[in-house]
Amino acid sequence: MDVLSAIKKRRSIRSFRSDRIPDDIMNKLLEAIQLAPSGGNRQPYRFIVVQDKDIKVKLAEACRWYPGRPQGQGFIAEAPVVIVACGSEGSAVVRYYKDEGMTLAIGWDVPTEVDKESVAYQSTMEMDLAIALDHLTLVAAEEGLGTCWVGAIDEREIKQLLAVPDDRRVLAVMPVGFTDSWPEPRPRKPLERIICYDKYSRNE
Ligand SMILES: Cc1cc2nc3c(=O)[nH]c(=O)nc-3n(C[C@H](O)[C@H](O)[C@H](O)COP(=O)(O)O)c2cc1C
Repeated sequence: MDVLSAIKKRRSIRSFRSDRIPDDIMNKLLEAIQLAPSGGNRQPYRFIVVQDKDIKVKLAEACRWYPGRPQGQGFIAEAPVVIVACGSEGSAVVRYYKDEGMTLAIGWDVPTEVDKESVAYQSTMEMDLAIALDHLTLVAAEEGLGTCWVGAIDEREIKQLLAVPDDRRVLAVMPVGFTDSWPEPRPRKPLERIICYDKYSRNE
């Protein structure tokens, strides 16, 4: 399958069969993560592969928000594998502004006086992680597996559940598994509303 076909095939899947994912496919999924590009090739992440039933149930409960879904997102626990994406801002490339202009550093080298709350402060960690996980979604689609990005998570609860260190972030959870329901594609904005040429033009 070519890449565009995999992109077109991928959907958010919210219903999974319990079938085990064969090892050779699982290895391809993990390799897709491994081969992703990252700022400065820092690879500032670690992915937890959760297969334990009880942990999956607790994880699904922790993917909750108020007042929308206080009970969590139960479908996550149906999947045979749930990937939890953790990032390390300290080891990612960071962009910030000093007097002389834009400066790049590895997170742990950023001077303590830099205001990390300022809009000028931007780490590549989230982009890095998103690329790696998206690689996984496309290889999964190619292999007939469903995935779903889950960003509505109680990060504090998941960190506690999975013993994630304080200086690491949990950014996304992704169930992976075979499914009997492959929905129709969801709508997208027309190209002219998301692409412009040569300079920014508002047509959003
Ligand atoms: C960063 C991010 C976070 C998301 N969080 C959730 C989530 O918590 N729960 C969920 O069911 N879907 C979640 N989604 C899936 C989106 O709702 C879905 O991608 C969108 O509606 C488009 O549908 P499609 O993925 O089938 O094309 C998330 C997607 C992204 C990219």
